[in-house]
Amino acid sequence: MTRIPAGKVALHVREQGSAAPVLLVHGFPLKHTMWDAQFEALASKYRLIAPDLRGFGASQVTKGTVSMEELADDLAALLDTLNVSEPITFCGLSMGGYVGWEFFRKYRDRVRSLVMCDTRAACDTADAADARRQLATDVLATGPSLLVESLLPRLVSPVTLEKRPQIVEALRSIILSAPPEGIAAALNGMANRRDARDLLDKIDVPTLLVVGRDDALSPVDEMREMADSIATSTLVVVDDAGHLSPMERADVVNAALADFLPLV
Ligand code: MLT
Repeated sequence: MTRIPAGKVALHVREQGSAAPVLLVHGFPLKHTMWDAQFEALASKYRLIAPDLRGFGASQVTKGTVSMEELADDLAALLDTLNVSEPITFCGLSMGGYVGWEFFRKYRDRVRSLVMCDTRAACDTADAADARRQLATDVLATGPSLLVESLLPRLVSPVTLEKRPQIVEALRSIILSAPPEGIAAALNGMANRRDARDLLDKIDVPTLLVVGRDDALSPVDEMREMADSIATSTLVVVDDAGHLSPMERADVVNAALADFLPLV
């Protein structure tokens, strides 16, 4: 396990390829391996950079609350460490997308284009935020197995649950190995996150929005509204996929990425 400095923390990162840099930012409570199929298909054409966010995978954990802005700061510092000075494509899934909004707000000059997969711009309602904070407390008390029961069945489509056991097993094992303090800190950070809907009509870079047709957590209709607000966006709806479309239908998502991503 190697970690490299990223501002206030040290992060584990998988990096492969050259040419146009694409930062792949995982969702909650996952790690960089959710992008394995994108590495297989796309690393020969792009410079793919997939960190484990602070608190996840093999990266450093900090306790308490970690805000989406802090996670964005970590990523900017990581790019500095990797000597990435040219603008990147920021590709985030769900929580990775929440970090993406903050990255765009603060580091606009570093963004060449955006890919937002299965994510939301709205913040939590007060009830949802309370439930997240309670979940953070519960995970600290009982460990991540709680999330396997409550979250895993909602992460993927019915087809994946029934017919793609290797994906379900991979997710189960990632969730069970996620550090409880890291999970709790991210839950508290997501509960506090700001609404990004005000940002959408200010986005002026090419933007690809990707959503699984069966996504229960960031539904198609909500992502369609986001697409309507971002003048420079295109929406791709992925059949037979839920909230984790890049894993569940890597073939479709990789083709959409290959169409969209800048070659140099
Ligand atoms: C994720 O996949 O990152 C989560 O569903 C985000 C969330 O809980 O809002």
